[in-house]
Amino acid sequence: MSETLFTGISQLVTPRPGPQRGAAMRELNMTEDAALLVKDGMIAWVGPAAQAPTAPETVDLGGRAVVPGLVDPHTHAVWAGDRLADWEAKLSGATYEEILARGGGIRSTMRATAAAGVEELVALARPRLAALRASGATTTEVKSGYGLDFDAELRMLRAVRELQAEFELRPTLLIHVPPTEGRAEYVQGVCADLIPQVAREGLAEAVDVFTEKEAFSVEETRQIFAAARAHGLKVKLHADQFHAIGGTELACEVGALSVDHLEASTEAQIRALAASDTVATILPGVTLHLGLPAAPGRKLIDAGAIVAVGTDLNPGSSPVFSTQMALALAVRLCKLTPAEALTACTVNAAHALGLSDRGSLSAGQRADFLVLHSPDWRDLPYTLGASPVQDVFLAGVQL
Ligand code: NIG
Ligand code: FE
Repeated sequence: MSETLFTGISQLVTPRPGPQRGAAMRELNMTEDAALLVKDGMIAWVGPAAQAPTAPETVDLGGRAVVPGLVDPHTHAVWAGDRLADWEAKLSGATYEEILARGGGIRSTMRATAAAGVEELVALARPRLAALRASGATTTEVKSGYGLDFDAELRMLRAVRELQAEFELRPTLLIHVPPTEGRAEYVQGVCADLIPQVAREGLAEAVDVFTEKEAFSVEETRQIFAAARAHGLKVKLHADQFHAIGGTELACEVGALSVDHLEASTEAQIRALAASDTVATILPGVTLHLGLPAAPGRKLIDAGAIVAVGTDLNPGSSPVFSTQMALALAVRLCKLTPAEALTACTVNAAHALGLSDRGSLSAGQRADFLVLHSPDWRDLPYTLGASPVQDVFLAGVQL
């Protein structure tokens, strides 16, 4: 049994536990000159240092601000190859969708990833995950989706499984881009073979689909969701990235964990999300990198949706290796307040992964927390280009 009292906390800042929607996203609890008691990896007590219980061990954090560990609910951290040539093409005027349609983009990452073995994928993903964690992400979702065939998809998920020994990861099977020929057979195979095998081997917790004009239709997504559900997997979506073709409405109808992207969402999709428990996950790194419109973060919150923020770390649309940076960009590009952005990156992002045991510094939650360099928590949303995070604690243990 281990028991440690952390003191020397200038500000302890946290959302309340559980998902927060609308105006409640701005309601943080702030304790000045605080203490935090951790027992066996869980938070046992939080409050003013003057009222702290005694503990066998005390750690003085030296007058820093403490916030919950961030949860990054959307990454594609496992890939091989690079997209540097695509990026140059894009800078000279080609669009993301044009590059994809001519066999580049996601398809080029698929060719490189399908040629890599599990150990190579592990070695490539490890420093990316380490960067996300150093930036404050104590829990990170990782998707497959660059497998050209089912074996390559399984290799990606096996790589994630190996990395789970080193990182707190939540794996997702992503059905990303249909083959150029035989797409009906492909969807059938996903439902009849791939999803059952992934579920049997416990390789993923959820199934994600890229529902988009250049990818899967709403009808195909519906079939894939039915198979996922039948095998006990949760569902979520990439939707409204370029065109709002109905993915968001489907996700809200079936109670998906989250709908991610939403750059092309209009009032109808915003209303559907606000009326549902499905999380609206926005990915401001994509806006920055592709130079496309931002997701309507402000409107989603004002309408009453549960909004989360993620990096979408991937080589094509968001080479953002910092979850803190995604939080900071959500303030600038999607017009969240700093308080809303913290809630979006903690309890709401946890809810997007179906997790309720983390994201808030409250008794009973996992002791995942960040010690900032600064005594003022606002340096977390404020800082760009250097890390405001000094130390990362996972279940009470400093990494
Ligand atoms: O979330 N939009 C689809 N999928 C990824 C991009 C993947 C890639 O470009 O490699 C995304 O933006
Ligand atoms: Fe993505």
